[in-house]
Amino acid sequence: MRPDSSWQPPIRRPRRLRQNETIRSLVRETSLLPSQLVLPQFIVEGHDIIEPIEAMPGRCRLSIDRTITECKQAIALGVKVFALFPRVPDSLKTNDGQEALNPDSLVNQAIHAIKENCPDACLVADIALDPYSAVGHDGLVSPQGKVLNDETVKVLAQMAVNHAQAGADIVAPSDMMDGRVGAIRSALDHAGFTDVAILSYTAKYASSFYGPFRQALESAPVDAPNVPRNKKTYQMDPANSREAIIEAMLDEAEGADMLMVKPGLPYLDIITTLRSRTQLPIAAYHVSGEYAMIKAAGRLGWLDEKACMQESLIAIARAGADIIFTYAAMDYARWWRESQA
Ligand code: PBG
Repeated sequence: MRPDSSWQPPIRRPRRLRQNETIRSLVRETSLLPSQLVLPQFIVEGHDIIEPIEAMPGRCRLSIDRTITECKQAIALGVKVFALFPRVPDSLKTNDGQEALNPDSLVNQAIHAIKENCPDACLVADIALDPYSAVGHDGLVSPQGKVLNDETVKVLAQMAVNHAQAGADIVAPSDMMDGRVGAIRSALDHAGFTDVAILSYTAKYASSFYGPFRQALESAPVDAPNVPRNKKTYQMDPANSREAIIEAMLDEAEGADMLMVKPGLPYLDIITTLRSRTQLPIAAYHVSGEYAMIKAAGRLGWLDEKACMQESLIAIARAGADIIFTYAAMDYARWWRESQA
């Protein structure tokens, strides 16, 4: 090679700040603490039950006693917030999802038991009818196959009060009906639960990445006449981003305390957009399919599971999420602890 006499050594060399881990950590722009993570828990009836979820390696459906054991482990690692999802027996699923209003439902039993055994736990109750619905929808479905908005909102408001009465700290409407945040806030306040917070699934997309979750709860829409095959009339179109701003403005005006974007990694632009449009805390849900992809490729030896999981979560935080729901919360907290040693 001939020396190029016109070339001048660069004055700015970004690599100066990448020379070793100490200097990299000095200039690192984003950090993610275990205290910012929420661990979803799948709960089943019974005692001493651990049912592995096939499409979510490392995660299981647990009976309440086993859930408590795991919550204690998570709390010891610094993960103290749990989102509870019940696997409702088919015999309790109905078209109107009435079991959601049962004061002694599986979720409410879990809330009581976890609160009693883990006083530091903060519990998030999901508000949507799908675990209780015989047809697998988040809302009430008319005989003609329409997902009914206002009728559903009334039930969801009662459901939120039901879980608040059991001791939920946060209610998280994941249903995407219009007007539900306002109805839930009003119902909670009238029932005296002014301190129960609302974390709204604000921009929840009609995503195919929820597959493993629906397998875990056996909650997918059923294949029957006059039952919509998907959730596209209420969850958002993956092609849309401005619509997420409309949803965020409505939820904030209706009294949401925190807003969520879901899924996480494919929707980083939405997280960033909402971050710039609201002062509320933003949560992101690193969903079951995102977790499953990394786990599966890790098992095949195609990806480094730990590195890819950490990279995914820090990327979601960098995009602007303050809070991340992830099935890898305990793994992340362990890795974080090791890195501090
Ligand atoms: C249902 C609900 C879903 C998830 C959380 N709450 C599934 C759905 O909307 O069908 C998905 C979470 C995940 O995939 O990890 N209201």
